[in-house]
Amino acid sequence: MSDNISKGDLNVLVDFLSQDPQPILTNNKKVRQFEEEWGSWLGMPNNLMVNSGSSANQITFLALRQMLPEGAEVIVPPITWVSDISAVLQNGFTPVFCDINPKTLAIDEDDLLDKITRKTKVVFLTHVLGYNGLTDKILKLCEDNDLILVEDVCESHGATFKGQKVGTFGEISNFSYYYAHHMTSIEGGMVSTTDPEIYQLCRMFRSHGMLREATDDAIKQEYINEYPDLNSDFIFTEAAYNFRSTEINAVLAHNQLKRLDGNNKRRNENHYTFINNLNSERFRTDLNHEGNSNYAFTPILNEPDFALRDKTEERLNKYGIEFRRGLSGGGSQIRQPYIEKYIKNFNIKINGIYRAPNPLDYPKADHCHHFGWYIGNYPDLEESKIKHITEILNED
Ligand SMILES: Cc1ncc(COP(=O)(O)O)c(C=O)c1O
Repeated sequence: MSDNISKGDLNVLVDFLSQDPQPILTNNKKVRQFEEEWGSWLGMPNNLMVNSGSSANQITFLALRQMLPEGAEVIVPPITWVSDISAVLQNGFTPVFCDINPKTLAIDEDDLLDKITRKTKVVFLTHVLGYNGLTDKILKLCEDNDLILVEDVCESHGATFKGQKVGTFGEISNFSYYYAHHMTSIEGGMVSTTDPEIYQLCRMFRSHGMLREATDDAIKQEYINEYPDLNSDFIFTEAAYNFRSTEINAVLAHNQLKRLDGNNKRRNENHYTFINNLNSERFRTDLNHEGNSNYAFTPILNEPDFALRDKTEERLNKYGIEFRRGLSGGGSQIRQPYIEKYIKNFNIKINGIYRAPNPLDYPKADHCHHFGWYIGNYPDLEESKIKHITEILNED
């Protein structure tokens, strides 16, 4: 990957650090300023910067835990990141896996319909590698069944569904500013929400669960009245952690946001060069590209073929092309060792039973696990290099 942090970003950072008097470096007004800028860019009213996308996942489900019954079911896809599943597991919810739609790489609407039970409370949808994962039917199923939609947009900043940015359809959305993503603050993340109650909870859970972080006086007064013997500056409302960002990350994020739309446009042009030059007899080129904010090329074999897969990887290695097999998150989360460990160590249910799901019951996700890759796409990637990659992939 080309360097995601520019000389200009570093200069802005140096200017910030060399101010006299010295600037505050812990979470302060630069973080607040970036939260506001992010809210305007995205179109969400409440935004909270944290130190990673996984922290955003974690405090989202810690907040949801306060309002949903113990063990409530959360629909998740197998193609996502580990922290999406761990946030669900570690907050006492029951993950229910749902297969993916091969055109969007996100939750499949028909399988979603089959997986909804009276215990389902949340759909946690991941927009994979720049693709929009939403459909009208998914939104309607959420609405009709009174389900909270949480969007993980850590890999799809700027993607749209019907012209509207993803991350604005659900009650809550999570973003990551990890070094390799569409924009970066080195490490960082955001929780964006339409719900003021979730926002207040996340404010506290970002900072050790501390009451003083809430900005709603009614919430504060309730705790102060209930715990009159405690110093109101040190009331811990939950067993939480420190997920705060520093000012340094916010200064970088502020500068990076200025380039985000322009960079996304260039990445999308690269994406179409890639798709138009890929052999559609061998690879899937018929994904839903509308609204894509491409982050990585996603060659996926049309047919399962382990020999062709190995040959393709040999060729990519030979030419020094970096790739990751399995799309996001190393492929199907169902195949990862932590799932079995969780069931054994914590006696938890997955899909309503005390047994790991069979990955073969999720054939579309499992196909991507074995026969799909991602290859980095960055804004200044030259057309000739993209064509070189497709030539290698298409080679007989
Ligand atoms: C879909 C998804 N969710 C969450 C995360 C976690 O983000 P972070 O690496 O910032 O913790 C990632 C990381 O790449 C991701 O791809």
